[in-house]
This record gives sequence, structure tokens and C-alpha cells, in this order.
Amino acid sequence: MVKLSTRSSYWRMITILLLLYRNIVIVRSDDKQSDGLTLRKMRSDNHLRVAGGGGGEGSFFKVALFADLHFGEDAWTDWGPQQDLNSIKVMSTVLDTENPDFVVYLGDVITANNLPIHNASFYWNQAISPTRARNIPWASLFGNHDDAPFEWPIDWFSSSRIPQILCPANSSEGDVCSFKGTTRLELMRNEIENSLSFTEFGPENLWPSVSNYVLTLLSPNTDHKSPLMLMYFLDSGGGSYPEIISNIQSEWFRNKSNELNPNSSIPEIVFWHIPSKAYEKVAKIKKVAGKRRRRRTHCVGSMFKERVAAQEAEMGMMKLLTERPSVKAVFVGHNHGLDWCCPYEKMWLCYARHTGYGGYGSWDRGARILEVSGEPFSLKSWIRMENGTVHSEVVLST
Ligand SMILES: *[C@@H]1O[C@H](CO)[C@@H](O)[C@H](O)[C@H]1NC(C)=O
Ligand SMILES: *[C@@H]1O[C@H](CO)[C@@H](O)[C@H](O)[C@H]1NC(C)=O
Ligand SMILES: *[C@@H]1O[C@H](CO)[C@@H](O)[C@H](O)[C@H]1NC(C)=O
Ligand SMILES: *[C@@H]1O[C@H](CO)[C@@H](O)[C@H](O)[C@H]1NC(C)=O
Ligand SMILES: *[C@@H]1O[C@H](CO)[C@@H](O)[C@H](O)[C@H]1NC(C)=O
Repeated sequence: MVKLSTRSSYWRMITILLLLYRNIVIVRSDDKQSDGLTLRKMRSDNHLRVAGGGGGEGSFFKVALFADLHFGEDAWTDWGPQQDLNSIKVMSTVLDTENPDFVVYLGDVITANNLPIHNASFYWNQAISPTRARNIPWASLFGNHDDAPFEWPIDWFSSSRIPQILCPANSSEGDVCSFKGTTRLELMRNEIENSLSFTEFGPENLWPSVSNYVLTLLSPNTDHKSPLMLMYFLDSGGGSYPEIISNIQSEWFRNKSNELNPNSSIPEIVFWHIPSKAYEKVAKIKKVAGKRRRRRTHCVGSMFKERVAAQEAEMGMMKLLTERPSVKAVFVGHNHGLDWCCPYEKMWLCYARHTGYGGYGSWDRGARILEVSGEPFSLKSWIRMENGTVHSEVVLST
């Protein structure tokens, strides 16, 4: 691993150098967006590209996935803030051991129940702070807890208290100031102010599903736009609306992938938070086959610590993915006890590893790492645990 880390640092240095020359890092594929996006649009005019990978033999681009951090949970107790400190320690350990070039925040970054945006963005910023402090760029997407709706605490209705609603001083109408929690759009506005963040508002016609966008990884050794890999980010819902990837999101993906990669010549990977129904199927097959044919199922990682908690419906996304030979893998979080990768059709379905001390379950924390090489393309992955150990190494594409 020492050798790998050294190479990674090398690429990180290159990335930073390139950044300095504004010559670089990640192409965003822009959908025409309007209001509220001015800041972002100005930045995206730079046509940023992620440098790394494909720089010749032995070079690669490394991504760390941070899933289910749940910052800000039970902030009013002693253990709430303590678990956030512990989560920062996990991320710091992973970042310092692996030296990734890029980080993906895979949803449930915060537990936003009952938090106004002021507080929610405070916790969000804590969650991204270890990555930002190391000058590593990142992208994020939403889970079901990031904009979890307001829940009236029962003790607000006890004999000694009445429900408190804090209204802005200048609001006059009751329903304007009644607190409804933090929205995805508010969180997104906060997130994209970070100059190292490559997160985007998705196209408006997909809202309420917000974090839908594509980033293109470019080879650093070419001066023209030579994509090494496409990374699709989708919002799988939950929180303020149902846990689904809707038909219109699938249509957006079809449009986008046809536009950017018409003949499926560029490898593609996909990120969202809540596993699709296909994950349930895969886990069942493994369980049935487990006794007799364990070796033949090729799954890697912990399979049965808990049941797959899938999206509410499958509306066409998986079919589109399986029809594209370029799609190599899907990565989700959501189930804190699962960290497997299993083959599905011609691709892989993978869980991340829960990274945060927030949220349910006390399974040990860690992060899934992706390593992308170019020329020839390969995609490898493993789990780096908080205590430094590595397990579940798997080759997802060669
Ligand atoms: C929200 O922010 C306010 C002002 O900074 C602070 O007083 C309050 O304790 C915060 N609430 C939570 C739950 O973090
Ligand atoms: C209240 O004031 C703030 C800041 O001055 C402003 O941004 C907001 O739009 C105002 N809200 C209403 C309901 O007028
Ligand atoms: C997909 O492309 C078609 C044809 O250009 C267009 O009519 C449709 O609105 C697009 N759908 C989405 C969700 O972008
Ligand atoms: C695939 O598409 C790319 C970009 O549109 C093009 O450069 C390449 O020649 C195509 N390859 C094949 C085999 O059609
Ligand atoms: C580190 O954690 C792993 C998995 O959580 C565990 O199996 C292993 O024994 C631990 N190793 C050390 C050296 O603590």
C-alpha cells in the first residue's frame, strides 16, 4: 500500500499544480439551469477536469466514498457531538492512509430532522471539513436523512411547554414562518459555495430530486478532452419525498449517456444513496446459493448483517444500466451493516461502507475506496477500515 499511496500523492500534487494553472479538473456536463445557480455557472465556465488516471503505466485516480455520516444527529445531547468527532476521525484516518484524489459523499451526510438551514449547513460543513482541510475536491449527493422532515418533539407538548416556532423578524404570515425543516435546495446552495465541491444542482425538471449530474474524468496526459470515465450522480429520494429513482430521472440518464457516450465506449460508474430493488434480488440469490455454491456467486463483503432496505419502486433505471455495456458498477450507502459488491448482469452492484458514527448500528466504520487506471482501463475497489485494515478487495472492471 505504501507504493500506492506514493503514487496517489503524486497525482494529487499534479492535480493541485494543474489547479494552480487553471488548466484542469473534471468537466461538468451542464444542463441549462437558471435561477439560484449563478455562482455555480460562473465557476463551471472554467470547464474543470479531474486530473489523474491514464497518465501512463501504473498511474491511477483514487476515490474515497464516505457514506452515512449523519452529522448533527442529536446535537443537543453529549453523545451527538461526540459521534461527529468520531466520524471526523474516521474520515481523517482514511484520507491520510489512502490519499485519495477525490471524495464522494454518498448521502445521509447529515441528519437534518428539525434543523433549520443555519444549523444543517453548519453540520454539513463539519462533515466535509476533513476533505476540505486536505485540499481534496469532492462531490456529494443526497440521502433520505439530509432533508428529513420536521418532527414535532413529543416533549414540546408536555404540560410545561408549548410548541416553539422561531419566525424571521420580518415575516408576517403564519405559514411563511412555520418551520418545515431544511430543503435539498437550501443544502445544495450551501454545498456549492465550496470552491472544491463539484456537486451540482440537477436539472430543474427532475426536482424534487436534486443531486442529479455527471462528472467526466479526463486523462491527464492529453490536452484535448479525452474522457477516461463518466461518473453519474443520482438522487434516490427519501426524506421529503418517496425513496425512488423516478422515470424522468431514468430518461435524463438515457439522454445524458447517449449524448456523452453514444456508443458506450467510455466506462461509466453510478452513485446514489438507496439501493435499488436489484440489490434485494442479488442478496437473495446469494443466500439461496450460499450453501451449495458459495464460491460461484463471486460476491465480496458482508452480505447478511441486515436486510437490504431497497427503494420503494423500480422505474426503469436498472434496465437502462444493464443495457449499457459501459456501465461497470453502481455504488450505494443506506444500509449501514452491508458493504458487499456482487456481480449483476454485466456490471457490479456495490455498497459503500458506513463511515459515520451517526445513524443506526455499531458495525465498525470505514470507507470504500475506488482506484481507476487508464490505458488499459481498470477499476479496483477495497474497504479501508478506521483501524487501518483493508478487506474485500475486488476488481470491478479490467
Ligand atoms: C442552531 O444554531 C443556533 C445558533 O447558532 C444555536 O444556538 C443552536 O444551538 C443550534 N441548534 C442545534 C440543534 O444545533
Ligand atoms: C426577510 O429578510 C431577509 C433578510 O433581510 C430577506 O432575505 C427575506 O427575503 C425577508 N423575508 C420576507 C418574508 O420578507
Ligand atoms: C430527453 O430528450 C428528449 C429528446 O431530446 C427530450 O424531449 C426530453 O425532454 C429529455 N428528457 C429529459 C428528462 O431530459
Ligand atoms: C464512439 O464515439 C466516439 C465519440 O463520439 C468516437 O470518437 C468513436 O470513434 C466511436 N467509436 C466507435 C467504435 O464507433
Ligand atoms: C480492525 O478492524 C477489523 C474489522 O472491523 C477487525 O477484524 C480487525 O481485527 C481489527 N484489527 C485491529 C488490528 O484492530
